[in-house]
Amino acid sequence: MSHNLLKGKRGIIFGALDNKSIAWKIAEKAYNEGAIFTLSNTPVALRFGEINRLSQHCNAEIIPADATSTKDLEHVFIRSMEILGGKVNFVLHSIGMSLNMRKQRDYDDVDYDYFQKTIDISALSFHKMLQIAKKLDAIEEWGSVLALSYIAAQRTLVGYNDMADAKALLESIARSFGYIYGREKHVRINTISQSPTRTTAGSGIKGIDGLLDFTERMSPLGNATADECADFSIVLFSDLSRKVTMQNIYHDGGFSSMAMSLKAMTQYNKCLDEDNNL
Ligand SMILES: NC(=O)c1ccc[n+]([C@@H]2O[C@H](COP(=O)([O-])OP(=O)(O)OC[C@H]3O[C@@H](n4cnc5c(N)ncnc54)[C@H](O)[C@@H]3O)[C@@H](O)[C@H]2O)c1
Repeated sequence: MSHNLLKGKRGIIFGALDNKSIAWKIAEKAYNEGAIFTLSNTPVALRFGEINRLSQHCNAEIIPADATSTKDLEHVFIRSMEILGGKVNFVLHSIGMSLNMRKQRDYDDVDYDYFQKTIDISALSFHKMLQIAKKLDAIEEWGSVLALSYIAAQRTLVGYNDMADAKALLESIARSFGYIYGREKHVRINTISQSPTRTTAGSGIKGIDGLLDFTERMSPLGNATADECADFSIVLFSDLSRKVTMQNIYHDGGFSSMAMSLKAMTQYNKCLDEDNNL
């Protein structure tokens, strides 16, 4: 059901890879809510080919860009304004990648070239987007910029590796840039801290199946799905959240406020019983 929450809004959506991607769900909902937008991802991701289906479905042009390249990002903003017929109202940063995770390098044995790539792709790219958008004056007053984060920015999780540091920086950039962009142009900048979600990036987290089960048991409302994340993102892009900025908002069914739940304790006790019977 559509509420036309984004009717008349123009946007740019970075990071839709396949139909499991959180950005893919956000694009579908943004389209249903009346927005027009462009899509962007790396040339490699485009060769993968899936994004063409989304592009056709949403009538959205694809602009290739490596989000670590300021030249590519500048092109995305300039082309998007040409294609969409004006400044944009919303931007989604849904980008993350760690070569240390991919190559299974542990946090106490990281490769520093990979580490820098993690930071560049997953966090600094957000700063680059914002700086370029501001210099080009590419975002309308009261526009909304959103990036996706994870609770590993605040709490230590086994296996999340250097992505934890990248997410901490990402959230800090949202605050620091949010102050300047808000003060000067009333542009709001937030991050959503999403539940673990089974996507290509999510599947790279060590022990994702156990993690999903644990967070499901710990969260009073259960894990938030990619579809639910998309619903919430639409609200943050819409005029219904005009005074929300510089926030990291947990969208995790309550997980971030829990220390132990009845469901998790019950399961844990079962394991203890099994151990004691050995
Ligand atoms: N899946 C989860 O459990 C989870 C939880 C919280 C937050 N997030 C975050 O959500 C965001 C989207 O991830 P997802 O789970 O939808 O997975 P995904 O794999 O579908 O999306 C990640 C995207 O990043 C893109 N990307 C990688 N390197 C890039 C580069 N150099 N330039 C431009 N794009 C690049 C990929 O092509 C892909 O489209 C990420 O920031 C991720 O960290 C995911």
